[in-house]
Amino acid sequence: MERTESLALLCRHVKGESLRAHCIATGAVMREAAVPLGGDPVQWEAIGILHDIDFEEVEGDMQRHGIHGAGILAAAGVDESVCTAVKRHNHHLFPGHTTPLEVALQAADAVSGLVIACALVKGGAVTQVTEKTVTKKFRDRGFAAGCDRDRILPVEALVPLREFYRCAIRGITRVKEELGLR
Ligand SMILES: [Fe+2]
Repeated sequence: MERTESLALLCRHVKGESLRAHCIATGAVMREAAVPLGGDPVQWEAIGILHDIDFEEVEGDMQRHGIHGAGILAAAGVDESVCTAVKRHNHHLFPGHTTPLEVALQAADAVSGLVIACALVKGGAVTQVTEKTVTKKFRDRGFAAGCDRDRILPVEALVPLREFYRCAIRGITRVKEELGLR
């Protein structure tokens, strides 16, 4: 699934700018993480972009989040593997992710907000964020407190955390204009 296609589909269901930005950022991290983790970068980015497609429509009902999203995607003719990943990313309903794709999606979902928060304290310059910045802010649990660090840590079994942070920074740097960063 091409990036433009997944973005168009996302924008039909998600109207909020900040949720769109979160999805774009998560997709960008997934694309980079696919390289060391042996995934398909294009497919992994599509999954990242689409993972929260239902978030506005379920109106906070976490019993439907992901399941409804998978339904939207299936109706749009999206690959079953993408639908399944979107459904299962709801860790409240499907805890215990094990495949590299699922572990990466949990980590990308959480780290995207952490990297953006790191950029914002540098005046929006993601280009000034380094793996050291992210490592330091990861330990400071009061910083970007909404970022669930425990969803990032399992990725360490697959790739060193510092390398994962580098992937995240590289991905978010690639889409920085779309996120209003520099
Ligand atoms: Fe998300």
